Amino acid sequence: MNKVAIITGASRGIGAATAKLLAERGFAVCVNYHTSKDQAHAVVEAITQNQGKAIAVKADMAHEDDIIKLFEQVDDELGSVTALVNNAGTNGGMGEVENITHERLHSVFATNVFGAFITCREAVKRMKGHQGGSIVNVTSEAAKFGGNKLAHYAASKAAINTFTIGFAREVAAYNIRVNAVSPGVIDTEMHHASPPERIAALMNSLPMKRMGQAHEVAELIHWLLSDAASYMSGAIIPVTGSR
Ligand SMILES: NC(=O)c1ccc[n+]([C@@H]2O[C@H](COP(=O)([O-])OP(=O)(O)OC[C@H]3O[C@@H](n4cnc5c(N)ncnc54)[C@H](OP(=O)(O)O)[C@@H]3O)[C@@H](O)[C@H]2O)c1
Repeated sequence: MNKVAIITGASRGIGAATAKLLAERGFAVCVNYHTSKDQAHAVVEAITQNQGKAIAVKADMAHEDDIIKLFEQVDDELGSVTALVNNAGTNGGMGEVENITHERLHSVFATNVFGAFITCREAVKRMKGHQGGSIVNVTSEAAKFGGNKLAHYAASKAAINTFTIGFAREVAAYNIRVNAVSPGVIDTEMHHASPPERIAALMNSLPMKRMGQAHEVAELIHWLLSDAASYMSGAIIPVTGSR
């Protein structure tokens, strides 16, 4: 069976590292992006220069129509999806609940939660028609501790944790496995907007005295997608350097 992976939000950070690693390990990959067109195409170029197969597809994970079109494009250009990584995510910016707007809350949940539900719906339709498949949702340790002025983001990731468990049970009989990886603090652009004092406080709280690297999360994602993890489903695995 051809291994075809869709990685949402793969223009940079954890998604880009995952797309490159999966391509190196034999997957044809769809590098989804929303706004970072040049970065997504650079990821595809790096993969193809390395003899891998990849396409870049623009789709806003907050929009159902975009997601449906992305899956159709992948059907046509790479074949039916066998692996899905729901990585696209936004923290919506720091802020207290008393100041949150409906628009901001909606945008965070539309991308992080609704987007993941809809991609799973589209993937499972296709995976059921074949020999199954594997899905990894990228959640966050913030789901457990509530986030620091990021309750909206943390709550969206808590929804993904519960969804992962319920959906995994629902599709287990179809040879479809669903797991989540739960990063702690990973060195990506997600932290670039944070004030220096927040970064300093974060660094202080890290037992390994360093942030994780995107490729360290990608390795776990690859393992969960692989046959080596054939009895893993419904798991939410922290990647935190012991934080
Ligand atoms: N970094 C951390 O410390 C950390 C910790 C825990 C969990 N996570 C989770 O890990 C995942 C990846 O985060 P990262 O740190 O790699 O972040 P990042 O560097 O900020 O990258 C975010 C990615 O998500 C994409 N994205 C955002 N909104 C999108 C939308 N509406 N539609 C499609 N793509 C969208 C971005 O695409 P464009 O640039 O093309 O818009 C980008 O590729 C997220 O789910 C995040 O919540 C990260």
